Amino acid sequence: MSDPYFQQLFAQRIGGENYGKGTAIYKFEKIKRAKRKALADYPDRTLIDFGIGENDAMAPEFVREVMAQEINKPENRGYADNGIADFKEAVAGFMKRFFGVELDAATEVNHCIGSKTALAMLPACFINPGDTTLMTVPGYPVAGTHTAYYGGSVYKLPLLAENNFFPDLDNIPAEVKEKAKLLVINYPNSPTGKVATREFYEKVVKFAKDNNIVVVQDAAHTVLTFEGEPLSFLSVPGAKEVGVEVHSLSKGFDMIGWRIGWVCGHPLLVQAFSDVKDNCDSGQFMAIQKAAAAALGNEEIPKQTKTKYERRLKKLVEMLNRCGFKCEMPGGTYFLYTKSPSGIEGGPSFASGEEASQYLITEKSICTVPWDDAGSFLRFSVTYVAADEAAEDALMEETEKRLKQVAWKFD
Ligand SMILES: Cc1ncc(COP(=O)(O)O)c(C=O)c1O
Repeated sequence: MSDPYFQQLFAQRIGGENYGKGTAIYKFEKIKRAKRKALADYPDRTLIDFGIGENDAMAPEFVREVMAQEINKPENRGYADNGIADFKEAVAGFMKRFFGVELDAATEVNHCIGSKTALAMLPACFINPGDTTLMTVPGYPVAGTHTAYYGGSVYKLPLLAENNFFPDLDNIPAEVKEKAKLLVINYPNSPTGKVATREFYEKVVKFAKDNNIVVVQDAAHTVLTFEGEPLSFLSVPGAKEVGVEVHSLSKGFDMIGWRIGWVCGHPLLVQAFSDVKDNCDSGQFMAIQKAAAAALGNEEIPKQTKTKYERRLKKLVEMLNRCGFKCEMPGGTYFLYTKSPSGIEGGPSFASGEEASQYLITEKSICTVPWDDAGSFLRFSVTYVAADEAAEDALMEETEKRLKQVAWKFD
C-alpha cells in the first residue's frame, strides 16, 4: 500500500515522514503481549497482576452520590474554563489541613483535567528551543516529552540507590544549569517509593534560586505517604517563590478516571499555567469539580486509601523477603521498587529488569514492570483486585508458592 499524501507532513516531534512505521516495541506493549501469551499458554494458571498502576477501587460512594446530584443541576452544564471557586476553596482548605500550607484560593490554585495534563502544559510556559528541563529518572516522562515538543532538551538526573534515590543536584554541569529553566521532581516518588525530606526540599529551593530555575513538584501520590507525615514542597520556606506543586485526586481519592487535579504555588506561575490551559481545554465538568471538592473536604477518604495500600505493601514486602528478595517498605506510593534478581540457581541469568520481568510473566504468570533507567529494578504495584483482606492473603500465598519454586539469585 502506498503512503497517504500526508505521510510527508507529520512533524519531526512524532517521527516526521517515518511516523507509524517504527517497529520498536515499548515496555508496556511488551508486558501486554507477554500477559496475553501467559494466559494462552497456561489457561488454568491465574495471572497475578502487579503490573497495573491504577487504583482498583471505585471512587467512594459519598463522592459518587454528590456527583449523581450535581450531574442533574442545569448550572453545571457549561464550560468551566479555568475552574470554579468551590473547587479552588476546597483545595485551599485541604492544603491547609493536610500540609499546613496557606494558599489564596483565587490566585494560587487552578484545577487541571488530571495532573498529567498539567505536566504536559507547564513546559509551554517556559521552554523555548534550546532550553533544558531537568528531570529525575526513572519517572513519569510527560513534562520531558513536551519539553522536546517545544524544541527543548531533557537532562536526566538518575535516582540511584547509593544517593538514597535523591537526584544529585551538586554535580550538574554548569553549561546544563545555564540552559535549564525547569526542574521536575516527584515525591512521593514513582516508581522508587522514596519520600522527600524537608532538608531535600530546602536544598531544591536554594538550587532553584541560585540557578534561576522554576521547580515543578509532582505530588500525585502524596496522600499515600507512609513514612512520616505527608510533606508539601510549598511548606518549605521560599518554595512558593520558586515553583508550583501539581496534585491529583486520582491516587489518594480513588478518582483515577475522573480526571481532576490542581496546580498551586506562586500566583504568576499559576497564572501562566492557566493561560496555557485556557488555550488547550475548557475546564473539567463542573459536576466533577464539585464532587472533587466534596472529596477534598472528607477527612476519611485519604486515610482509607492510605491504610489499604500500606497494608498491602507490608504484606508484599514480607512475602517477597521470604522468597529471597531484598525489599524494604517504600515511604510512599502504591509501588514497591526493588532490585531485580540477577538469575535463577541452575537456570537463566537476567541481564536486566526487563529479562527478569519477562521470566516472571512467562514462567510464573506474575506480572511486574521492569525499570532499567538507573540500575535493574522491578516495580510491583499493590493495586491488584482483591475484595477483602482474605483475598489479599490468598493472593500473597499463591505468589509465594510460585516464587518459591525456584531459588532467586541477587548478585
Ligand atoms: C508520578 C505521577 N505523576 C502524575 C500522574 C498522572 O496522574 P493523573 O493524571 O491521573 O492525575 C501519575 C499517574 O500515573 C503519576 O504516577
